[in-house]
This record gives sequence, C-alpha cells and structure tokens, in this order.
Amino acid sequence: MKAGPFDLSGRIALVTGAGRGIGRASAQLLAECGAAVVVNDLAEDTAQKTAAEIVEVGGAAIAVAADVSSAAGVDRLVEQALAEYEAVDLLVNNAGISRYRPILECGEEDWDSHLDIMAKGTFLLMRALAPQMIERHFGRIVNLGSYVAQMNTTTKYFGPYCAAKFAIVGLTQVAAQEFAPYVNVNAVGPGDVATEMMELEWQQEGQRRNLDPAEVKEEYRRRLILGKFEGPRDIAGTIAFLCSPLAEHITGSHLIVSGGLPFKTDPVVV
Ligand SMILES: NC(=O)c1ccc[n+]([C@@H]2O[C@H](COP(=O)([O-])OP(=O)(O)OC[C@H]3O[C@@H](n4cnc5c(N)ncnc54)[C@H](O)[C@@H]3O)[C@@H](O)[C@H]2O)c1
Repeated sequence: MKAGPFDLSGRIALVTGAGRGIGRASAQLLAECGAAVVVNDLAEDTAQKTAAEIVEVGGAAIAVAADVSSAAGVDRLVEQALAEYEAVDLLVNNAGISRYRPILECGEEDWDSHLDIMAKGTFLLMRALAPQMIERHFGRIVNLGSYVAQMNTTTKYFGPYCAAKFAIVGLTQVAAQEFAPYVNVNAVGPGDVATEMMELEWQQEGQRRNLDPAEVKEEYRRRLILGKFEGPRDIAGTIAFLCSPLAEHITGSHLIVSGGLPFKTDPVVV
C-alpha cells in the first residue's frame, strides 16, 4: 500500500501527560498514523489506560509513569523508552497544569510548579532526547504553548502559567536553531480546549463572579471567531501534521489552534 502524507510507520513517539486530554488524543492519533508510542503521565493508571486503548485497536504503545518536572523522573522515563524502542523520533512535550489565581495570591509553589512541570520538563526532555535525534539525522519535537503566550491582553489570573508558556515558546525558538537541520522544533498553541483543565477554569471563574460555570463556558464560546471550542483531537491533528513529512520545512514556529481566540473584538469580560 502507498504511504499516505501522514504516514508515521516505523517512528517512535513519546508523549508526556498523555493519560488524558490533549496528550491522550495526541498519543492515539500518532499511533493511528503508524507510530509506536511511549505514553507518559504522572498518574500511572491513566497512562496505562491510554496505552491499553492504543494496543486494543492494533497500535503499539507502552506506558511509563514519571514526573517530568524532575531530572530523576525524566531520566527514568527516557531510560525505559529507549530500553523498549532504542530510539525516540517524535517528542511531544504536553504535560501541564493550570491554576486560576491572581498574581498577588500566588505563592512560591504556584510559580515553581508551573515552571517546573512545563518549562523545565520541556527543557529536560529536549536535552535528553535531542542528541540521539541529531545523531540519527531525524527528529520532530512539538511543545505545547498556548494562545496566551503571544500578546496576552485577554487572560488574567494565570501569571505563572502564562510565564511558563512564554518560556516554552522561547525555548522552542532557540532549540529550533540549535538542533537544525535534521530536528524540527515547533510549538502548538491551543485556545480553549474543552478538557478537564478548562472545565476547572470555568468552575473557578464561575465561583469568582458568582455565575454558573455553564454561563462562563458560553461567554468563552462567544469569544471565538469560529463560535465553537476545538477538541483535543483538533490539537492532536496539528501535532501529527508537525510530525509528518508534510511539515518538513516548519521549524521554530508557534502554531495557534484556537478557533480565532483572542482576535474577536467583542467586549472583553472583566
Ligand atoms: N485545555 C486547554 O484549553 C489548553 C489551552 C492551551 C494550552 N494547553 C496545554 O495543553 C497541554 C495539555 O492540556 P490538557 O487540557 O489536556 O490538560 P489536562 O489537565 O487534561 O491533562 C494534563 C495531563 O498532564 C499530566 N501531568 C501533570 N503534571 C505532570 C507531571 N509532572 N509529569 C507528567 N505528567 C503530568 C496530568 O496528569 C494530565 O494527565 C498542557 O500543556 C496545557 O497547558 C491546554
């Protein structure tokens, strides 16, 4: 059979935070495109579940529970991935947290946890896996940015989160230069994706403004040019595209997949 443009047969992918949400959808789609997937999550049961779902439909996957915010966790993750598959061609740095809290109410732990899990985790995994990609003359790295890591004038109460996402975009741009010409490094910036992360935000904003979370969700929906939230699979599609042969000439970019957020000019919620 002729290989399609999204064919990733023979490739090995590692997706962090793939126990649910965008990471899970990405692991599943990369497997559908033919890649074998190392499914990481902090939570062992959800990592196992995603890997089992992939295997159940004929794909190849293993689960590795590890905390990507520490060098020890990343070392263990990389060691187990390479012991199983000998190489990693596609790295998706997706693991993340998001806490809705004004800067003046944030403690040191809020800052450290966001920066450690997202920015440091991305740095540690790129540092661990880029050398074997460079040596083998092939690699694709996709880091999860966010629409807030552009010119953020619409989203309050996410100081450490926003700082971590800007750090990821900066790291992506530097890594794209340092790992060229065989390893492409890009970021994908989702808007509001209806995952557990966003459901929690709608609840918390509802509490702050004394509104039903469903009303908050509807307000957010109306901010979108396309008028509907993207799902985890939409972000996974962009990640698969960036890993595919079609994206050979894309590196150092931060591709926003947001349904038009934040470019609609309706009154901003305060
Ligand atoms: N949902 C959105 O609207 C949205 C928007 C922009 C960016 N993003 C980014 O996309 C990524 C995924 O978001 P999501 O909505 O699927 O989130 P989610 O909360 O549904 O899933 C995040 C996953 O990361 C895992 N994780 C957390 N800390 C970890 C650690 N230290 N080590 C390993 N795994 C860890 C969690 O266990 C969870 O399974 C995040 O980086 C997030 O910032 C999401």
